[in-house]
Amino acid sequence: MNILILGSGGREHALAWAVKQNPKTDRLIVAPGNAGIALLAECADIDILDSVAVVNFCDENAIDFVIVGPEAPLAAGVADACRAAGLLTFGPSAAAAKLEASKAFTKEICDACAAPTAAWARFTDAAAARAYIAAQGAPIVVKADGLAAGKGVIVAMTEAEALAAIDDMFGGEFGAAGAEVVIEEFMAGEEASFFILTDGTHALPIGTAQDHKRAFDGDTGPNTGGMGAYSPAPVLTDAIQRQAMEEIVLPTIAEMARRGTAYQGVLYAGLMIENGRARLVEYNARFGDPECQVLMMRLGAQALDLMLATAEGRLDQVQVTWADDHALTVVMASNGYPGAYAKGSQIRGLEELPEDSRHMVFHAGTAQRDASVIASGGRVLNVTARGETLREARDAAYAMVDRIDWPAGFCRRDIGWRALK
Ligand code: AMP
Ligand code: GLY
Repeated sequence: MNILILGSGGREHALAWAVKQNPKTDRLIVAPGNAGIALLAECADIDILDSVAVVNFCDENAIDFVIVGPEAPLAAGVADACRAAGLLTFGPSAAAAKLEASKAFTKEICDACAAPTAAWARFTDAAAARAYIAAQGAPIVVKADGLAAGKGVIVAMTEAEALAAIDDMFGGEFGAAGAEVVIEEFMAGEEASFFILTDGTHALPIGTAQDHKRAFDGDTGPNTGGMGAYSPAPVLTDAIQRQAMEEIVLPTIAEMARRGTAYQGVLYAGLMIENGRARLVEYNARFGDPECQVLMMRLGAQALDLMLATAEGRLDQVQVTWADDHALTVVMASNGYPGAYAKGSQIRGLEELPEDSRHMVFHAGTAQRDASVIASGGRVLNVTARGETLREARDAAYAMVDRIDWPAGFCRRDIGWRALK
């Protein structure tokens, strides 16, 4: 079949890598793609937020299956438009993707189905929000309601920080995303990510992961999109996964269906685990980046069969085949990230690295300039390896990192420390 993947990051490179290995794949196109993706698929320069452009492209290229990678096209209704045009599509409708696009909506769903999560309140008025913070005290969490590229959440350890966040959000720092603010109880514990495929009715867990959000070793420095990840996440034991399915995920899927906005795609549940129980921190309507890279390394070609079963509404008829293995990815980022960074530096040594079912360098922000690969983003490479143990996966990933010649980039040296300690 002919398959179109929308997106251009490490997540989409990993999806393309897995899909390409499946014999069902004839032609594989990624839009817009990047320099690494171009080595295994065709790249097409279309505006993936433009539903009409995407549907026309699918018609012209006889596309049989569309996989939507990032949240922005989901929120823009691109999956709806593809389905309306009769295309088999993996990814939720705009109405269902509200589970990521609106924090207040997710909290309403949790309340409606009694899913455990932090206590919360919503505000469109700064004075009322300030009064609530004064009454609750710190620590407390302040969130812009809408999509803010991962920057709209302030975990305030003092009341002053929380009040400053209110001023910023109602002052327009996050634009429309901050017109409404959610204030939440601070949850202590260990965070982990749980990935579930759902066709709207059936649900199939496909793995767990943990990422490292801070820029520097020891989980210090500014927050980023994620500096590395590993799968599985040991903190998400089988018992906690069962509890999370029964109390959070399945009730959410049922509530979305009851409202007439059944959720189809991957549901990424960010969980906080404390005293052997999980509570929901947030949902995302897509695979995590870089969590997808470790999941795809472990799932391989079957990922396509699972996504097809999701889109075709027959997830009750498929199973995940798991090897008892581990995968780890190290993000290499441009010096300066997540602040300002230079683009255009040359990356050397990639050609000599192994590329097989246990080793892969996924490209996140790269471009091709003449014969060279150059950095074109903040997060640039996801150096990924699989092993019998997490330690083996980590050692293999860092052995590859050490062979990459890129003075303009940096990475953390301690990915996986929590699970390895
Ligand atoms: P979110 O975008 O909702 O995932 O928030 C980003 C990060 O903020 C999460 O990954 C958590 O580390 C943290 N966070 C969000 N909500 C809470 C909460 N209620 N208690 C503690 N930490 C939180
Ligand atoms: N790595 C976190 C995310 O994809 O949201």
